[in-house]
Amino acid sequence: MKISVIGLGYVGMCQAAGLAKSGHDVIGVDIDKKKIENINNKIPPIYEKGLKELLIDVVPDKLQATNNLKEAVLKTDLSFICVGTPSKKEGSMSMVQLKNVARDIGRAIKQKESKHYVITKSTIVPGTSEEIVIKTIEEHSGKKFPDDFGVGMNPEFLREGTAIIDFFNPDRIVIGSSDKDTVEIAEKIYREFNCAILKTSLKEAEMIKYASNALLATKISFINEIGNICKKYNINTNLVAEGVGLDSRISPKFLRSGIGFGGSCFPKDVNAIVYKATELGYNPRLLRAVLEVNRDQPLKLLEILENHCPLKNKKIGVLGLTFKAGTDDIRESPALNTIKELLMEEAELYIYDPKAMGKVKKIFPHLNYLDSAEKVIKKSEIILILTEWDEFKELDYGKKLVIDGKNVFNHSKPENYEGICW
Ligand code: UDX
Repeated sequence: MKISVIGLGYVGMCQAAGLAKSGHDVIGVDIDKKKIENINNKIPPIYEKGLKELLIDVVPDKLQATNNLKEAVLKTDLSFICVGTPSKKEGSMSMVQLKNVARDIGRAIKQKESKHYVITKSTIVPGTSEEIVIKTIEEHSGKKFPDDFGVGMNPEFLREGTAIIDFFNPDRIVIGSSDKDTVEIAEKIYREFNCAILKTSLKEAEMIKYASNALLATKISFINEIGNICKKYNINTNLVAEGVGLDSRISPKFLRSGIGFGGSCFPKDVNAIVYKATELGYNPRLLRAVLEVNRDQPLKLLEILENHCPLKNKKIGVLGLTFKAGTDDIRESPALNTIKELLMEEAELYIYDPKAMGKVKKIFPHLNYLDSAEKVIKKSEIILILTEWDEFKELDYGKKLVIDGKNVFNHSKPENYEGICW
């Protein structure tokens, strides 16, 4: 099938490369010219395991990138919308990119004779496909849904760091639409995937994404709360989590306590659904608490640190900056708030991360960035582990105090060690 993928961020890039590998002819669209040039030269615009190899395989025969949205839409049968829906200050989401893309698709399909299909993968609150995507396309194309064009919602569940594996091995595929042609065409695309396909309304598909992320975030805040209680009892949360996770109704996944969740999805999505629910007149108490626990979780690490010594002028090593290992993404990373707090306490920081130092330097330009974890250990009196990079497991920490926010060590722990919840 001929497919355009609009917006080549994490989701769009993996979707475009994955569909191309599955045999479709894909045109990726983005406004960032440098990104397009890189993709067309087989250079991944993001760090994601397996993406480079995939681009080498599919560019240019099956995947090409352009900034010409109109041409891409006219040359293809179906467009996936994968643009960002970033948080605004109050917690709601910005729809600017989505509206612009829907407008441009509308203008493009005005000239198109055959029925064009538009499927959103961006995370959008229930009602957005109907109120923004369909209405905007109708307004700018002069055409009518569902006779002249199709609209669907197909939420993504890709985890950064394993997004390519996740693309080819989904647990389920959700296709939301009231238009049977759109459902049929989406089913055709995902036919080869060995998983359940759930067909829903547009709003249900939109909500499934929020409910999934909200539940996973809830599991994390839950185990962090249990972990904070375990810490008071001086018992090992990891064993408690193991004992709880062995219950097949619960599962051991997402029961790893630590400094809390970050990334581009969980904080933004839980905030957005809290905001939207409140707007609809419902007070989502549980989800507010999930965010509250998560907001305070990095502070637990600082409490532990302060119990050991005053922080002023203390030489503190920070190992890890990304919100989790396997990515260079620092969005909503708990490490950034921890650094801010430490700076307020006038600690002297030495910092290392294998992937994200360039990005963090732009936010905190005047800190001491060192090019290896060993150098950080040498310079610091106390070491904080804020991302679970494998390389941090193998280091010789000597007798220095290591405070672990990410549950990095399985068996052999540093001599002088304390975990945030264990
Ligand atoms: C998430 C969802 O998993 C994915 O389905 C969705 O499409 C996008 O958001 P991602 O943000 O890449 O993916 O990361 P994920 O692996 O889910 O972890 C999110 C955060 O939770 C990280 O900060 C991670 O360290 C933290 N986490 C995860 C825990 O603290 N404990 C856990 O047990 C699991």
